[in-house]
Amino acid sequence: MLLDDAVELCAPRAGALVVDGTLGRGGHAAALLEHGVHLVGLDRDPEAIAAVRARFGDAFGDRLELHHAPFSRIPDVLAGRRADAVLLDLGVSSPQLETASRGFSFRNDGPLDMRMDPSSGEPVSAWLDHTDEAGFVDVLFRLGEERQARRIARAVLAARPVRTTGELADVVARTVGRGDGRIHPATRTFQALRMVVNDELGQLATALQAVPECLAPGGRFVVIAFHSLEDRAVKQAFRALAGDGAPTDMRGHPLVVPRFRLVERRARKGEDRDPTNPRARSARLRVLERLP
Ligand SMILES: C[S@@+](CC[C@H](N)C(=O)[O-])C[C@H]1O[C@@H](n2cnc3c(N)ncnc32)[C@H](O)[C@@H]1O
Repeated sequence: MLLDDAVELCAPRAGALVVDGTLGRGGHAAALLEHGVHLVGLDRDPEAIAAVRARFGDAFGDRLELHHAPFSRIPDVLAGRRADAVLLDLGVSSPQLETASRGFSFRNDGPLDMRMDPSSGEPVSAWLDHTDEAGFVDVLFRLGEERQARRIARAVLAARPVRTTGELADVVARTVGRGDGRIHPATRTFQALRMVVNDELGQLATALQAVPECLAPGGRFVVIAFHSLEDRAVKQAFRALAGDGAPTDMRGHPLVVPRFRLVERRARKGEDRDPTNPRARSARLRVLERLP
């Protein structure tokens, strides 16, 4: 998604230290490695790490380092090294969505799990077992932007235990109807539950605080977000770091000199690149740069 833009904005050059915090199947990583960078790749999904290891083999020698870790732990993984670029391409990968046994999909029936890292945290089915109605409604409203949150929460909680993606999709569809058929009626419910069990906003908030401090002078932080809450968090964090809205003296000069700048004021938009792909359409790419 926005692959060429993201790679160009990482400004890769031979020998640069570049972190890909969301390896997925290694699409961005491959493009970055072609520029001769030293790539530190992370993914919280062990299957992603295994797939990238199988894809690249020894082709890049010690120019490629792989870590099974969430991107909130980039500072630990870097262990004092400074990055010339850090890339985050948020959300889930197609293989995660398409593999029924991972439990992300309402199209293929599977266990109701949705954890990107199946070795930590709890699956959606367990989260539903202990959640209360108010908490569930809040998750559906905020993370799913679901207008029928109350009805859905009530129906799903009444149907507990809910153990498979098919069961959940059916309860939601029976409750709210099939809609206009453009998107599955359970799309927003699945998105909200995925975001909550993976603490996706918490992961992003930690990275937005920690990653800028890991950048070398001139280093860049490139983030691609698909959810409006995530993009807003990125926009606000980047603007604050670049000194937007900070107090100024009478001549309009900032009182505290910012250590970062916005490479571009506006987000690059997925819909400008690929208007036909529904997932690409909502993508927003933003870039922050550490000043020399
Ligand atoms: C959209 S895909 C990335 C696709 C990748 N850029 C490519 O070219 O193939 C998102 C990936 O990020 C991973 N991911 C999501 N949140 C993460 C986190 N907090 N820490 C580490 N990896 C994460 C997911 O497991 C998934 O593999």
